[in-house]
Amino acid sequence: MKGNVIVGQSGGPTAVINSSLAGVFKTARDRGAKTVYGMLHGIQGFLDGKVVDLSKHITSDLDIEILKRTPSSYLGSCRYKLPEVSKGNEIFEQIFARLKDLEIEYFFYIGGNDSMDTIKKLTDYAEIIGSDIKFMGVPKTIDNDLAVTDHTPGFGSAAKYIGSITKEVIRDGLVYDKANVTILEIMGRNAGWLTGAAALARGEDCEGPDMIFLPEIPVDVDEFVQKVKALQDKKNAVVVAISEGAKLPDGRYVCELSDNVDSVDAFGHKQLSGTATYLANKCARELGCKARAIEFSTLQRCASHIVSRVDITEAFQVGGAAVKAAFEGETGKMVILKRVSDDPYQCTTDIYDVHMIANVEKKVPREWINEEGTYVTQDFLNYVRPLIQAELTPIMVDGLPRHLCCEELRRG
Ligand code: F6P
Repeated sequence: MKGNVIVGQSGGPTAVINSSLAGVFKTARDRGAKTVYGMLHGIQGFLDGKVVDLSKHITSDLDIEILKRTPSSYLGSCRYKLPEVSKGNEIFEQIFARLKDLEIEYFFYIGGNDSMDTIKKLTDYAEIIGSDIKFMGVPKTIDNDLAVTDHTPGFGSAAKYIGSITKEVIRDGLVYDKANVTILEIMGRNAGWLTGAAALARGEDCEGPDMIFLPEIPVDVDEFVQKVKALQDKKNAVVVAISEGAKLPDGRYVCELSDNVDSVDAFGHKQLSGTATYLANKCARELGCKARAIEFSTLQRCASHIVSRVDITEAFQVGGAAVKAAFEGETGKMVILKRVSDDPYQCTTDIYDVHMIANVEKKVPREWINEEGTYVTQDFLNYVRPLIQAELTPIMVDGLPRHLCCEELRRG
């Protein structure tokens, strides 16, 4: 018999983050954990005493299957930054007191680089006070910007959605015999992994987007319009994919030129939105043509009806691998994915020091972006394509996907 486990989810959700939760829950239970607790709204909710007994929520194998296919974070999320670690700090004292009350021996946090900051700090504090609790990070983020790991669960499904919907939008643009511009705005913050995935649309039946702009290469907005104009000399429908985090040559975000209301989270990240709208308006004004902005927004991270089977499977595996490692005595680590081969695609799991991962943003390498900074290369596509393979159909009830909902979250 093992001791009690607690698991939380943090940061922006993905279509498969609950598959990792299912992986933690099932593996912990199968390996003899006494009670598996879930914290509602991550570490912030935990500080407020918001904890549930997960075995009362997930009561059957069918529940586990539905949970895997349920988008967004079942337990809710937060963007909460712990203070710097110092002995006697009130917040850490409170957290460790609560962990003691619940007799927690293993702590799992599913999240991105900000969430790994939480694991790092809790590990460091445990060391200061001589606590034996094991802290493990479970990777997730559609941004794919976590260091060391080959890729992050959540990215493959978001990339599959982006590739699919970009194809659909391109088809739609072809219908009128008239100049039109469509600008697609894609998430990913300061890394262009997800925006680059728009290039997956290119194939035998689709030309793919005409240009792709990543945050890694600054964009001059006047040159942008000129490039669109040059394309319009050759074709009616121009489709451009651009990252929400695209930057101007002076270092500001392009979206700062729009009149969106700014919001900044605890980690100092600005809400990035409005890039496509700004550029579409500029094209319409200066080129005198119809221009549409499509902000994929939340849709790209919650589209669980089109998850990648590779992704949802790996999301489950990293949850299980975290439990196995912690039960074997590891702490202060994050599970990473290691690619063994591309064809056939094979990946294994390992663990890595979370101190090397927390707060680091992994960018798209310069050599995977073309010379002009307007597209990704074949190497980029070779890297992404295995991650979007195969599907896992939702469990359909009355014509719609069935999800597992946390009653406590619903009540707010
Ligand atoms: O980090 C994941 C992510 O979806 C980013 O791509 C995006 O910039 C951010 O979260 C949005 O966060 P929120 O939903 O908190 O505004």
